[in-house]
Amino acid sequence: MVTCVYARTFWRVSALASRVMVTNVYGSEIPDSDAFTRERAKDINAMGRDEICVRRRWNSSPALRSVKLQVPAANGCGVPIIRLPDDILTLQEIIWSLRPGFIIETGIARGGSLLLSASLMHMANVQPLVLGMDIQILKHASDSISGSRFAEEITLWEGDSASPSAGLVASTFIESAPAGRPGVLVLDSDHSHSHVSGELEMLAGLMPIESLVLVADTLIEEFGEDPYPDRPWGRGNSPMTAVREFVASHRSYVVSERWARRGLVTEFRDGILQRIA
Ligand SMILES: C[S@@+](CC[C@H](N)C(=O)[O-])C[C@H]1O[C@@H](n2cnc3c(N)ncnc32)[C@H](O)[C@@H]1O
Repeated sequence: MVTCVYARTFWRVSALASRVMVTNVYGSEIPDSDAFTRERAKDINAMGRDEICVRRRWNSSPALRSVKLQVPAANGCGVPIIRLPDDILTLQEIIWSLRPGFIIETGIARGGSLLLSASLMHMANVQPLVLGMDIQILKHASDSISGSRFAEEITLWEGDSASPSAGLVASTFIESAPAGRPGVLVLDSDHSHSHVSGELEMLAGLMPIESLVLVADTLIEEFGEDPYPDRPWGRGNSPMTAVREFVASHRSYVVSERWARRGLVTEFRDGILQRIA
């Protein structure tokens, strides 16, 4: 039970000419919600653009790869997600503020990120509607989804996410979503330039206006040494190079001022796009 004992509160309220100023125990003013949100947005933005913060270069450490694989093992309703904590928080904020009608993610792996998306939509009080696409859906991933409470709200599709069939599946899925609402598209599959470009061409154009496209692993451009010697992608052939090319040739998309620098230890830096037209 929560009891409010006003006589014992430490907050001092003093009337000013046109508003009420609330101060804390040290006598400093406590900003109201609007002012707090405004100030914080300014700080977050400044931090994400601050050379010292960004150039700490956490992102360039190969150790980050194992951090990515291990950290979120306890997330996504108990199913592993290959994602950094900052980015999980950013997704939560995006879902809360955008209230998307649907989420599409390419690259399912173990299925945790799909469960995370569905659960965050549920918490934001929007009907979860999630499509996951992967070239190879593993049994343990589909078992995790079908055994979860979001089994009905998550659809899995197996195939190449940059193929015309993927475009067809995605557009049918989007038609089934509530009309007029933006969506979220997360690209987290094959991180080579050509594949991400193909996904952007095939899928981003289907997204309603105001939708966000989150392109994972732009951080590959920041790595000092190649942490993925067994993969076709690397510096110069990465999601970041695909994003730059896509934004330069598609006026309907911009790099989001609000979200692209939200995380510090992030795999999405400058890789969050918004559809504006
Ligand atoms: C980095 S993992 C995805 C991680 C997942 N989004 C998460 O956060 O837990 C990459 C996935 O992309 C899939 N993949 C690779 N090439 C693909 C392609 N051409 N089309 C679709 N999926 C692909 C792989 O099978 C793998 O499951």
